[in-house]
Amino acid sequence: MLVLGLETSCDETGVALYDSEQGLLADALFSQIDLHRMYGGVVPELASRDHVKRMLPLIRQVLDEAGRTRQDINGIAYTAGPGLVGALLVGASCARAMAFALNIPAVGVHHMEGHLLAPMLEEYPPQFPFVALLVSGGHTQLVRVDGIGRYRLLGESIDDAAGEAFDKTAKLLGLRYPGGPEIARLAQQGIAGRFKLPRPMTDRPGLEFSFSGLKTSVLNQWNKCQAAGEADAQAKADLALAFEQAVVDTLTIKCRRALEQEDLQRLVIAGGVSANTALRQSLEQMLGELGGEVFYARPRFCTDNGAMIAYAGCQRLLAGQQEDNSISVRARWPM
Ligand code: KG4
Ligand code: ZN
Repeated sequence: MLVLGLETSCDETGVALYDSEQGLLADALFSQIDLHRMYGGVVPELASRDHVKRMLPLIRQVLDEAGRTRQDINGIAYTAGPGLVGALLVGASCARAMAFALNIPAVGVHHMEGHLLAPMLEEYPPQFPFVALLVSGGHTQLVRVDGIGRYRLLGESIDDAAGEAFDKTAKLLGLRYPGGPEIARLAQQGIAGRFKLPRPMTDRPGLEFSFSGLKTSVLNQWNKCQAAGEADAQAKADLALAFEQAVVDTLTIKCRRALEQEDLQRLVIAGGVSANTALRQSLEQMLGELGGEVFYARPRFCTDNGAMIAYAGCQRLLAGQQEDNSISVRARWPM
C-alpha cells in the first residue's frame, strides 16, 4: 500500500510517500522558520498561507523522487490535530480533495501519534511494549505503548511543554526562534556549576511535569546577573547549560520512574526535543544502568515531518480505518 502523508500542523510543510512493503520512498519538507523568525514565534495566518503555497509543489516533488504518479497512491494521511486550525485545514482539505478525485481513502492522523511512531522508520525499530517520552513544542507526555493505537497516558506537563520552555527561555535570553537548538548550541560553551536551577516535581512521587517555574528561575538569575553587571556572553552560555541540564535531569528522572513503574526496559523518545544531544546521552546512560535500550528517530524525523504521518496513516489504513469525506480538524485533541 502506497500512502501519501501530509503534515501542516504548525510551521513546517511535510510531505512523504511511504510504502508498506518498501518503506519510505520519498520525504520533502519546507520549514517556515525564516518567515516567522522576525516575530519571535509562529504567526498562524502566515503559516496557513505558506502551507497553501508549498503543498502541491512538494507533492509533485515526492512523486517525482519516488518515480511514481498520483494514480499509484492507495491512500492519503494528513495531520488532523492538534495544531493551528488554519494550518491543519490546508493539509486536511488537500488530502480530502485529492482522495475524492482519485477515489481512494484518506485518514486524519493525530500529530503526536505521528511523532510517537517516527522511530519505527529507523533501521532498528523498537518492539512493543515500550514507554514513550513525547517532548515537543506543545506536549510533554509519558505514554505506555502496547501497540499501534494502544496508548495509555502515564503523566504529562501541568503547564509548559519542554519545547515551549526551551523556546521561552531562549527568548528571554535574547536568542533566536526556535529556542531549543539555540540553547543547545550555546550550552556547549557553558561551564557547569555556576547557576543552580530546580528539577521541578522530582522530589515527590508521580509522573507529572512542570516547566514554567524553571523558566522563571532563569529569568530571575539573568536579572540578577544584569543588575550585577555580569550579564556577558559567558554568563548566558552558563545559564543556557544550567537550564538544559535541569530539563534533561528532570526528564531522565521521570523516564526512569515510568520504566520502573511499568516494569519495562525500552524507552522511545520522540518530538522536537528528542533531537537534543544532551537528553539522548543522559537517557542512554540511564537505560544502560537499567540494562535497557533507548530508541529515537534521526534528527530530521524528531521535528515535524510528513514521513511520520505517512507511516502512522498507513498503519491505520492497513488496520481498516475508514472515514467519511468531511473535512474536520482539531486544535486540541487528547491522544
Ligand atoms: O515536534 P516539533 O517539531 O513541533 C511540535 O510538534 O511542537 O517540536 C518543536 C520543538 C520546539 O520547541 C523546539 O525548540 C524544540 O522542539 N527543539 C529542541 C531541539 N530541536 C528542536 N529542543 C531542544 N534541543 C533541540 N536540539
Ligand atoms: Zn510536532
